Amino acid sequence: MQLDLEDQILEASKIIQKGGLVAFPTETVYGLGANAFDPEAIAKIFKLKNRPADNPLIVHISSLEMLPKLVNNISETNQKLIDNFWPGPLAIVFPKSQLVPDIVTAGLNTVVIRFPNNPIAQQLIAKCGAPLAAPSVNPSGKPSSTNPQHIRDYFENQIFVVEGEPSEIGLESTVINALEPTPIILRQGAITQEQIKEVLGKEVEVAQKQTKVQSPGMKYRHYAPEAKLELIPLGENILDKIELYIKQNLKVGALVSSEIYNTLPNAVIAFDLGSKENYKDISANLYAGLHYFDSQKVDIILSESFQHQGLGLAIMDRLQRAAE
Ligand code: TXA
Ligand code: MG
Repeated sequence: MQLDLEDQILEASKIIQKGGLVAFPTETVYGLGANAFDPEAIAKIFKLKNRPADNPLIVHISSLEMLPKLVNNISETNQKLIDNFWPGPLAIVFPKSQLVPDIVTAGLNTVVIRFPNNPIAQQLIAKCGAPLAAPSVNPSGKPSSTNPQHIRDYFENQIFVVEGEPSEIGLESTVINALEPTPIILRQGAITQEQIKEVLGKEVEVAQKQTKVQSPGMKYRHYAPEAKLELIPLGENILDKIELYIKQNLKVGALVSSEIYNTLPNAVIAFDLGSKENYKDISANLYAGLHYFDSQKVDIILSESFQHQGLGLAIMDRLQRAAE
């Protein structure tokens, strides 16, 4: 029998307090949480995900009062980011306090903190009485989970899941390092370069693959479905490509906007991301599309491209990585 939400949160907090792991909803993607101050619990996250030990975790808080125990200093710039974007999908790099175990930060002297705005995430963290270190819920390298079914597909019943709605944003948070004179976005997300520039009143860079100050995690293969994903550039006709592969007797998946979905031949296994007039729908549905093609065991996925603008930048970042 399914527990009601309040009982799920209570049960999850007991698991966390005993040093276990729980999955929970956030507005970006689901998180796999453990008590951020418990190194043995954190080790279980790395083990379950098969995550490289040099890829640090984000620590999640439910009130600003949790911050002083986690960080050494809050710069004026970071304070501006907090005031403007928290709670929300922005993860911020801080100098770490000694209380944060090294395993959380992979030995770095910085820690990334996020204050999610999803009420279930906030209630859970508050109930635990401790910040939660939480990566996305997926085997390392695979697409993140944006609903409870995705988590069960990956891990069956190995972890307790606090069941929320499908993730509203559907892409991981923006990660920003504003400790340097020129702040740098380490991972693109729903909070855009433009928005951060406007708030800070200065130039903001976006880390390129070859940049040295990269987020450690971004050097690994990411968001990759089982089948190869081919990204069709804007302006090229995806239908021609689909027909070509169908003629070769391949089981073809098409990841497309509604506008294209409605014109596709029957022989293709298509996933409708929503109208390209609304990138919020496209981002919310993107990972569900990748999970769908895994379940359908297609031979190849062809994906439409989107504009490199606003939320389209984060969408294209994930599609490009999935295509690598
Ligand atoms: O939206 C999100 O942030 C989700 C939800 C659950 O909150 N979490 C998430 O965590 O995406 P994860 O572990 O999948 O990604 C964390 C990213 C990695 O790219 C990692 O390298 C980077 O944050 N990161 C963590 N600590 C860092 C640090 N001290 N310096 C630079 N990058 C860091
Ligand atoms: Mg992840």
